[in-house]
Order: sequence, then C-alpha cells, then structure tokens
Amino acid sequence: MSDRNTPRSHAKPACRATLSRRTLRWYQPVLVVAIATFGVLAYAQDTAAPRTATTTTAAIASANALATEAGFETLAQGGNAVDAAIAVATSLSVVQPEASGLGGGFLALIHDAATGKDTFIDAREMAPQAVREADYRKADGTPNRDTSLHGPLAAGIPGMPAGLAYMAGKYGKVPLAVSLRPAIRLADKGFHPSSPLVRSIGREAEVLRRYPASAGKFFPGGKAPQTTDIFRDPGQAATLKAIAERGADGFYKGAVAKELVRAVKASGGTWTLADLASYQAKERSPIELTYAGYKIVTAPPPSSGGVALAEMLNILAPIDLKSMDEAHRIHYLVEAMRRAFRDHNEYLGDPDFVKMPLDMLLSPYYADGLRQSILPEQATKSAWLPSVHAKDPGMHTTHYSIIDKDGNMVSMTATVNTTLGSGFVAGKTGVLLNNEMDDFALVSGQPNAFGLIGGSANAPVGGKRMLSSMTPSFVIGKDRLAVIGSPGGSTIITQVFEGILAFIDGKNAGEITAQKRIHHQFMPDRVDIESGSDIPADVLAKLKAMGYEINDKDSWGNMNVVVWDKTTNVKSAASDPRNPNGLGKVETIH
Ligand code: GLY
Repeated sequence: MSDRNTPRSHAKPACRATLSRRTLRWYQPVLVVAIATFGVLAYAQDTAAPRTATTTTAAIASANALATEAGFETLAQGGNAVDAAIAVATSLSVVQPEASGLGGGFLALIHDAATGKDTFIDAREMAPQAVREADYRKADGTPNRDTSLHGPLAAGIPGMPAGLAYMAGKYGKVPLAVSLRPAIRLADKGFHPSSPLVRSIGREAEVLRRYPASAGKFFPGGKAPQTTDIFRDPGQAATLKAIAERGADGFYKGAVAKELVRAVKASGGTWTLADLASYQAKERSPIELTYAGYKIVTAPPPSSGGVALAEMLNILAPIDLKSMDEAHRIHYLVEAMRRAFRDHNEYLGDPDFVKMPLDMLLSPYYADGLRQSILPEQATKSAWLPSVHAKDPGMHTTHYSIIDKDGNMVSMTATVNTTLGSGFVAGKTGVLLNNEMDDFALVSGQPNAFGLIGGSANAPVGGKRMLSSMTPSFVIGKDRLAVIGSPGGSTIITQVFEGILAFIDGKNAGEITAQKRIHHQFMPDRVDIESGSDIPADVLAKLKAMGYEINDKDSWGNMNVVVWDKTTNVKSAASDPRNPNGLGKVETIH
C-alpha cells in the first residue's frame, strides 16, 4: 500500500516542506537496556518477512521487575517465549493485580520462529448467558455506573486461565507446573507491594471494603498495605496451584469454579457453572499490513486496535511526514487518529457475533478517501464527520513484550479493565474479577469508562466478547523488528501508532517508550498533549490557528517494548519510564 499511486496533493501535502528534524523534538532520550549478542543468524530470503535466528539472549519488558524476572526464570528452565509470557502473566496477576490477572483476560500475538508463522490468541472475557441490559440502568433509564464498574455484575467470564492453558499446550515447551511456579511462590511467600498497587488500593478502598473477600485480600489485618510490608495472597496461590495441576479445568470446572459461582451469586451476579465450563480461548488470524516497507502484525477483533492502527497507517502511507514541519506532522497524525476513531466504535464487535466491513476498513482505497477529506491547513471538526462520541481515556491494563533466544516472540496485553477491576474478589479463590462488562455498549449512546460509545455491534449478549482497544503488535523490517504494546484504554491505539512511527524512524526501545505522546479519539474533539512535551510554543500556536483545541494532559500509558536489530544481533528491552516498577532486560540464556 505504501507504494501505490495516490493523489499528488497528498503525496506532497500543501505544507512547508522544510525537511526540519524538529518534528522529532518531542521524543526524549532515555536509557536502554541492551546487551550485544554473538549468535549465528540464519536469515530467510524475504526482506520484510520474519527471519529465524539463533542467538544466546532473550529480552523481556514488563511493567513489574518481579514479573520480568519470573519470565527469565522460566526461560532458564527450558521454556520458550510463550512459557515466559505465561510466567509474566501469572506473576503480574499476583504483583500487579490493579492491572490484570486470572480474573481478567488478554490478547496476545505469538510468533513461532520455527515455522515463521504469526498467530493471535483471544482470551477476552465474555458476557454470562444471563446478561441483562436492565442491570446496568437505573430506574430512570440512565446508566448505572456502579453496576457496570463494581461488583460481580461488572465482571465478564474470565479468559486468562483458558488462554494461558491453550498457549502452553499448543506453543509452549514446559508444563504449567513450571511456568506458574514463580507466581505461586510470589503469592505464597509474599512480596513488597509496588507504590502503584498501594495507591490503587487506597483509591479503590471504598469499593474493596464492600466485599469481605476483597477486604480480606487487600487489607490484611484490616490495614492498607505499605510498600515496606510483605503482601501474601494464599487464596490466589491455591487457585494457581489448581491451574498448574489441571490446566484450564482447574479454574473453569471443579472446586474453584463452584466457589467462583457461589461467591458471584451471593453478591448479586448471574454467573453459572455452565458459563464457566463453556468458556474457550480462541485462536484467530492477526491483521497484517505493510507501512514504509515494514510488516505490521497486530490485533484483529474483538480488538478495535488493529483495525484503527491499520486505518491510521493506511491514511498516512503516501504522506511524506519527514518533509513536514512539526505542526503539519502533528496535524496529519491527529487527522488520521480522528478518522480511525470515528469508525472504531461504529462497526466493531465480537467477530463471532457481528458482521464487520473489515475489507472496507482495512482497504488502502478506503484510506485514500479518508485522506482526501483532510484539509491541508485546517483541523477537521469531528462534528463534521457524523458518528459516535467519546470522553477521557483511562490508564490501566498491562503489556509485556518478549523475544526468546530462538526468535520466538510474544506481544501480550492483559487486563481486568479499570484499576483493580470490579473490586470484587470471588470468595476463597483469591481471584479479583474484572469489570470488563463496561467495555460493552451497555446503554446505547452512553460512554464507557474510556469515553467510548459503541453501537449495536458491541451490545452485550450472552457468550459474546466485549470490544477491546488492546493492540499487541509486531513491527518487522528487513533489519530490525519490534514487539510493542501498552495499556491505556482508547489511548493504547494511538500509543502503539506513535510507537510504530518512532521505531520506523530508527528509535530504540528506550526512546520509543519514553517519547511524549499525543492523542485524539474523535470525541472529545481535542488534541491531548502529554505534560512536559517539548513541542515548541510556536508549533502549538500554529495548531491552534488551524482550529485545534489543545489539552495539556498528565502522562498516560505504560509501554513495554523489545527491539531486535538483526544487523548487529543486539536485542534491547525497555519499560516505560513513567512506571518506576517496570523492567526491560536482556539476558544470556544458557
Ligand atoms: N479494558 C480495556 C480494553 O480492553 O480496551
């Protein structure tokens, strides 16, 4: 698509082509953890195709150092990138429960170095069969934000345990008993809670204290934990052991399932044993596209992320961003974001339930039309483009990026939705349930926690998966590749978009995670610019003169990136500097 003929006016937009590198001034230099390796490369022929390589190092970047170390422990036990991802996921369930866990779900891309194939694991939560829209409305018909965000009605049937068991069985090398060992140890023996966990517990205290099992888990001895305390999670340790012994059945059938259903029903939820027994992780084909000679592999529905990313990159494909001054570069990025988000909620939902015009949305010809509607010197008003509306995005969820020594790769984003999910721990299981039901369009025309408004394509139906913005991705070039993703609700999509552009511009993992962010999501019709950005005042003035509302906004996202430069055979891993608890690390595996 990048080499297709496109209208001249868009190939060279009507802006001053100063060739200025000021466009990149808002990227900040950062530290990168990188270790050179001297393994033997065995390149395949195709330039942009994934290439098999043998190295001695593996790279993991996650939002918590204990989880990154758990991944390396599993690699040292003979595991591959998939096993390491399982160790990271389950460890984060223990040490970063505010973001993801057994009671939530995930979306993951896997690259199998032996076959060169990419695949996508959909372990998204699903609605219980008895879901009723009325449960999420007050008597006057207005949205009931409490039931959609708190307690068991807010929780979809979890996908994480099934997804991990599926990945281990089909793509892993070691049993779950090995990959779950670090998480079980962390839950049994305890750990020092991170400051974000301590802060999250404080912020959600009112909701957590409503439910005895939540209060028991998060306020041991009746007190909020401090970072110097040892925090143990014996309930979750027992559930992890059941999964380690019996795979998915350890969670979805038997004693754990009975306790989950008992606890949910006792607090007003509708889950049944049949809901749990029927949950299945699904393997789907990823979305693939090319941009600037790079192959992008990304998330298909039930994520909206890959479709939106493809739309944005297709819109920009023939535009020479490098030749633009900074104001025009931002202008084109924002107009691409605006148009992709207009479609985001309009068309997309669970592919097993709704028909989506994916051929249209992913088509470069469709993008040509969208590009032609961009005014070269003026902001488009979202109101001029008929459609849906949105408000502030949130910052939760977690992403990890992994490349093992054999070149297997995992890009995985996991979530319980908003901070500490529904706040509801299901009885003795120790499992904190998600509040992912809020990602459905529960009340038509009303925004969810991320300000996203869906239509009928994302209406709740028993057994259906709610739309996600999670966008785990691979960016694969001739010489370099990146494993990339981030949390942040609707901002995930624009973070990954800007991260991909930075990678293609030659940035390393640390620079990609650290660069300042901008975001536009159609509605509200404004450009969020991350506080501390070094976009010069004259550029902001120019954008305002074009008609943009500029909003200075506190930081968002928590990106974890791994980059592999095959020309030097150096892997680098970086965790978002906005999160002091993250760790990107490269290590030699013996
Ligand atoms: N719960 C956030 C997302 O999946 O987009």
